[in-house]
Amino acid sequence: MEDLIYLDNGATSYPKPDEVYTFMDSFYRSFGVNPGRSGYDLCMETGAVVDTTRKMLADLFNGNDPNRLCFSYNSTDALNLIIYGMLQPGDHAVTTTLEHNSVLRPLYHQNKLNNVEVDHVPFDTNGFVDPDKIKQKIQANTRLVIVNHASNVLGTVQPLETIGRICREHDVAFAIDASQSAGKVPIDIEQMLIDVVAFTGHKSLLGPTGIGGLYVREGIEVRHTRAGGTGVRSAARMHLDDYPYRLEYGTGNVVGIAGIHAGLKWIQQKGMDQIHHHEMKLTRMLRDGLRKIDGVLLYGQDDLADHIAVLSFNVAGMEALNTGTLLDGEYDIACRTGLHCAPLVHEQLGTDKIGGTVRIGIGPFNTEEHIQTAIQAVAEIADFQKKK
Ligand SMILES: Cc1ncc(COP(=O)(O)O)c(C=O)c1O
Repeated sequence: MEDLIYLDNGATSYPKPDEVYTFMDSFYRSFGVNPGRSGYDLCMETGAVVDTTRKMLADLFNGNDPNRLCFSYNSTDALNLIIYGMLQPGDHAVTTTLEHNSVLRPLYHQNKLNNVEVDHVPFDTNGFVDPDKIKQKIQANTRLVIVNHASNVLGTVQPLETIGRICREHDVAFAIDASQSAGKVPIDIEQMLIDVVAFTGHKSLLGPTGIGGLYVREGIEVRHTRAGGTGVRSAARMHLDDYPYRLEYGTGNVVGIAGIHAGLKWIQQKGMDQIHHHEMKLTRMLRDGLRKIDGVLLYGQDDLADHIAVLSFNVAGMEALNTGTLLDGEYDIACRTGLHCAPLVHEQLGTDKIGGTVRIGIGPFNTEEHIQTAIQAVAEIADFQKKK
């Protein structure tokens, strides 16, 4: 465990900053009561941490109403709230082949069960979606364009502002899946003309699992598709319409919110730019090293502009799983293999036939030494494979 080199930050960031563990522990011991349900001091103080975190996250996305920042379990949950709360029978949605199953599957369900039409726009050879191709798919009944901001397979960051402008011009709501990007690269809903952002707490926000949420811009409504306790106005027969209650159901994950609070504070102290710069320096080092190895196939663009610290590769002639098993078993390197819950990416790349890709996700605590060790390990595996 001591010697483990963790390069699976695309799945979840690990370890978290010490400040996250410490704050979650002290918060839960001191303030772990149900916020907003009662008027006693402790309850109010717990609520204050929740509200401050709402504000911090709304600020992160440049949203001006913290109440429109609603907490959910994770981004899968938030994306379900969006896809079921914004699309109705007869509507049309445009998405991309870069999406995670947390977008693809709710849309397949909407299509099969509720007669919602869906178009999937493919990415180009570098891993980017051409905004004009999205524009070409917009039709009279298009109600939603939903795009993965940063690919969890290829690492490419999509041109949101151009897509946002197209959506505004056509009066279509624009939602993004910021699971891999929130806390890593800037997201400005005003400048990028985004209507709804879905995020998860446990990846680049450096919080724990089981907490995420969405920000809904003023003027956009996401219908509530569930109902339950809100802690306020209990006599109302119907679930409350006002935000954040509209999209929050039952007792929330307060300790998770505290974790995001501490994660975001850490990011602010270090500087989001600085963290990204560090991770991209290591990503370039990894790309350069892997590129020199005979028999290694790298996917996506050569140039790492508009990119997060995620890279996919394979060793020629080997299934992704076997490479990952060797990296783990022989070198104590943890990375992810397979389809990474993004099957259409692999259908397009042809990697669905070889068990997907090996994905390396670099985080703030990785070092040059980790990357050099990983490059050396892949070189040895590729050499071994060639000699077989
Ligand atoms: C792009 C993308 N979207 C959505 C998700 C789902 O995140 P969660 O499992 O936290 O809901 C992931 C996680 O792997 C992801 O990478």
